[in-house]
Amino acid sequence: MCGIVGYLGKDDVISVIISGLKRLEYRGYDSCGFSVYDKKGQDLTLKTVGRVAALEKMAESLDFEAVCGIGHSRWATHGLVTEKNAHPHFDCKKEIFLVHNGIIENYKEIKKKLLERGHKFVSDTDTEVLVHLIEEFFKGNLEEAVHRALKYIKGAYAIAVISKKDPGKIVVARKSSPLVFSVEKNRAIVASDPTPILPFSDKVVFLEDDELAVLTPEGFKVFDFEKKQKIREPQVLDWTIEESEKGGFSHFMLKEIFEEPEAVENSIRGRIVLDEGIAKLGGLEMVSDKLSKIDRLILVACGTASYACMVGEYMIEENAEIPVEVDVASEFRYRNPILDKKTAFLAVSQSGETADTLAALREAKRKGLLSLGVVNMVGSSITRETEAGVYNHIGPEIAVAATKSFISQLSILALLTVFLGRQRNMSLSKGQEILGALKKLPDLMRETLKENDEKMKNLAEKYSKYRNFIFLGRKYNYPVALEGALKLKEIAFYIHAEGFPTGEIKHGPIALADENLPFFFIAPKDSVYDKVVSNMEEVRARKAPIIAITTKGNSELEKIADDVIYVPQTIEMLMPILNTIPLHLFAYYMGNILGCDVDKPRNLAKSVTVE
Ligand code: M6R
Repeated sequence: MCGIVGYLGKDDVISVIISGLKRLEYRGYDSCGFSVYDKKGQDLTLKTVGRVAALEKMAESLDFEAVCGIGHSRWATHGLVTEKNAHPHFDCKKEIFLVHNGIIENYKEIKKKLLERGHKFVSDTDTEVLVHLIEEFFKGNLEEAVHRALKYIKGAYAIAVISKKDPGKIVVARKSSPLVFSVEKNRAIVASDPTPILPFSDKVVFLEDDELAVLTPEGFKVFDFEKKQKIREPQVLDWTIEESEKGGFSHFMLKEIFEEPEAVENSIRGRIVLDEGIAKLGGLEMVSDKLSKIDRLILVACGTASYACMVGEYMIEENAEIPVEVDVASEFRYRNPILDKKTAFLAVSQSGETADTLAALREAKRKGLLSLGVVNMVGSSITRETEAGVYNHIGPEIAVAATKSFISQLSILALLTVFLGRQRNMSLSKGQEILGALKKLPDLMRETLKENDEKMKNLAEKYSKYRNFIFLGRKYNYPVALEGALKLKEIAFYIHAEGFPTGEIKHGPIALADENLPFFFIAPKDSVYDKVVSNMEEVRARKAPIIAITTKGNSELEKIADDVIYVPQTIEMLMPILNTIPLHLFAYYMGNILGCDVDKPRNLAKSVTVE
């Protein structure tokens, strides 16, 4: 997730771009830059590693009267955080400039062809291929060249392109990444969200997928990718700048819960080869041979990420048949794990900076283990210290609560299951079954959000007087119960919540059951459903309120539970992804009702870099 701004008009172009980028910094901020040109066709590009304030400082002493420009605040996906990898990128003649948010999946193939044709590349990014491809097609008309180039691109993008050889316009296009623009009073402005636009205008056009638009100070034209012009009327936005940063949601946490389907899309994009039933994890390619020989895998993480690992344990053992051990990092580092060279170590961390996870990783490396990571933050400590790994590609997660990162970690562990399984005995059809289900998941997640958002809000109201909750789940959904409980105690302070494996209640927790303690049962129609229902009956007999999450179409639980939440059916190992959504919503609404600062819960930090 990066931030894009483009501006064409009479205001101070560089200042407009810089203040726009500042507003977009929440989308990513490891480096930034802008390219502008003036009336005479002279251009200027400025880039820096770090935040927009550093770019602003560099621009202070400039004497350049720009008439048009584009800017970018980067969240690295391909290539390290360096000045040369920062956007904008430009063609060989430095006449076309481009900023991009997204991932170009087939950049390696395109780059190879462009290199053969003599193009010179200066960065390690996927983005740079696109501007060289546009150069290939450029014959004086920028939109024509962009249109032709995009035909070759696979992946996700929001782009803004300018050329001093076809001045007075910004060409923008979108597939899966957001872009919004406004053209009014002789100025055109485009950005990743409306925050840079709102100081100038409240009349905006949200570009849709597979649309390209040409913006000039006088007006705009929108086309589909078949070059057919589309009629798009600007809409009036009554958002404040703050609301706009949050995409109209009241908190980042809620926005990020609603981004969970997109998180799965981004994490699996370009990584599924359905015909062959294989998961293509580029970051593991160089250790693929070593991985085919391991006979044990240790997954280590903290908090929510450790629950993702627990689900991963069930996935990998059941489908790839490799023994898996999950350890909480703060424990792993102080016990004496018996490790041998055929064991691989995998650290899972959104931030890549969690001190305990990092210490555990160092311990595993000291013992000579193959070290891997599943990390969201590109260039973070864990990514630098592991031999190989997989990125989540979900953009920054701003709320302290881990929501979309948990869901993304689950989808990557499912890919890893197929990756490892297909190196062993997993059949083609099993690989295809898992990958096919993963592909369909984002739509089922959207359905789950749509059907349960209001319900979970009402449920949170109904149960807001309770101060203790128990969450129960079995097999794949035991870690989901832990996640539901953690999220509730983290976000809705004053509430105490615990998660247990459903089958364990008769060994202790059932002693707590009475009318003052609600029980959440995660009870999808899966291989352990009947056992879970028996435990539910036991709790019912003690008069405890019951909330059940189950599979759509299974109305049987309405007789036992006080409230039933339905989610669509998918394969058993992916059910945790759907079952978590209502629990995240419940924690959010409960925190909100209780007046908590949901995005910044008390006593907690987003990245725990101390022991
Ligand atoms: O950045 P990490 O994934 O390594 O963080 C791990 C935990 O600190 C984190 O998941 C924490 O439990 C969350 N705040 C839970 O919502």
